[in-house]
Amino acid sequence: MRRKLIVVSNRGPVSFSRNDGGERVAKRGGGGLVTALRGLLALHDVTWIASAISDEDRALAEDTLDESTRDGPPFRLRFVAHEEQAYDWFYNVVSNPMLWFIQHHLWELAYAPVIDRSFHTAWDDGYAAVNAEFASAVLEELDREPDAAVFFHDYHLYLAPRLVREQRPDATLAHFVHIPWPQPDAWQVLPERMRVALHDGLLANDVIGFHSDRWRRNFVHSARELLGEEADARTITAAISVDPTEFDELASSPAVLAAEREIAARRPEKLIVRVDRTDPSKNIVRGFRAFELYLAAHPEMRRRVSMLALLDPSRQHIPEYAEYLGALQREARRVNDRFQEDGWTPIDLQIEDDFPRSVAAYKQFDVLLVNAIFDGMNLVAKEAPLVNERNGVVVLSENAGAHAELGEWVVSVNPFDVEGQAEAIHRALQMGEDERAQRLSATCAHVRSNDVHAWIERQLAALDGLAATTRR
Ligand code: G6P
Repeated sequence: MRRKLIVVSNRGPVSFSRNDGGERVAKRGGGGLVTALRGLLALHDVTWIASAISDEDRALAEDTLDESTRDGPPFRLRFVAHEEQAYDWFYNVVSNPMLWFIQHHLWELAYAPVIDRSFHTAWDDGYAAVNAEFASAVLEELDREPDAAVFFHDYHLYLAPRLVREQRPDATLAHFVHIPWPQPDAWQVLPERMRVALHDGLLANDVIGFHSDRWRRNFVHSARELLGEEADARTITAAISVDPTEFDELASSPAVLAAEREIAARRPEKLIVRVDRTDPSKNIVRGFRAFELYLAAHPEMRRRVSMLALLDPSRQHIPEYAEYLGALQREARRVNDRFQEDGWTPIDLQIEDDFPRSVAAYKQFDVLLVNAIFDGMNLVAKEAPLVNERNGVVVLSENAGAHAELGEWVVSVNPFDVEGQAEAIHRALQMGEDERAQRLSATCAHVRSNDVHAWIERQLAALDGLAATTRR
């Protein structure tokens, strides 16, 4: 059934700019959330509300645009242009790093965070203010389409659902949290009024979704501890996924084939690949350290193996992220300085947002390293096996949501145990062809039958089943 949906997320499916010739050009939004949600557009009647990020987005913010994905179906796109200072507080001070850091356990609590006056201001005049603007945009869209269901996404928008609910007690509201939910004590980092407000905001939804049962249970626990609310009946686990046909097509596209030729020409016998945003939660520094330990323990493999790290620079206006990028560059250089020989560089570090190159690397890996500290899902672990042509093995963190689904076929690692990761790399590289082929095909079969459409259907079914009985 085709439905009317209002999708609300900070980052939109496209962002606009002007090229040198002055023409408006659209660039696909990055990150797992936007990639997966694009799957909704073909099937439903979607209005997407997102923050205006570029100047060109801001110029377009007055109107609702009729957009289509590159060759995809039409949808309505509404940009919300926030006041610059408010958006800076919302994005660079509260959402990332504060909420992201709490939910991925990234703080070194002896030193940070410090909640001072300026953080309170950033919360009130940034995070809460931007959420209020999103809520007003939703209310206007609901005036136009009163029967549409509203789908909020992620940690940027925890306060908006309550504001909408106050004005529209009967609206159908759902929220999907794409990142881990920590245990209740982790929220003690925030002053009470803030941690209560964000739980209360989420609980204004009819349905609240998580990628794995581990995050869902933590949320139920924390709603009980912080607000005394029983949220179990309104929460669902729905694992986000990918559109396999999109990857089948991409794999033979000219841009991917060109990038693949380059990788193939440079690669040694064995290739370890990682593809990540340069985010501290991705654990890139420890990954390089693990590779160093592997090379130290297996001198016979020097020159025969290298690591290709394709990293998308992320959130660089936030000091913690800028510092992390510096730290991982230093670590790669240190490992390279220790081992490199004429004609062989152990770690090939490429810091660039280049999606075709990532897909090309997916085809070429012998080992895919996904060692995230914590990760809501990690779509790389689902995308890469789909197109891999070398019976590659996935080495996967036990703290990535994807592990709950793929654990049986991957080599599992503890993200802090660099020694264990070095051993996992060894095990994966030593594994016999039959076993590798078996693991890879089981992973692909799972992803193909649990694709992004299944994720979307699961949520819509939950709305049908739960909204009428438990609305508040
Ligand atoms: C993660 C988050 C998304 C976010 C994406 C990219 O996947 O769950 O909400 O859009 O990272 O991050 P960015 O800050 O660039 O939007």
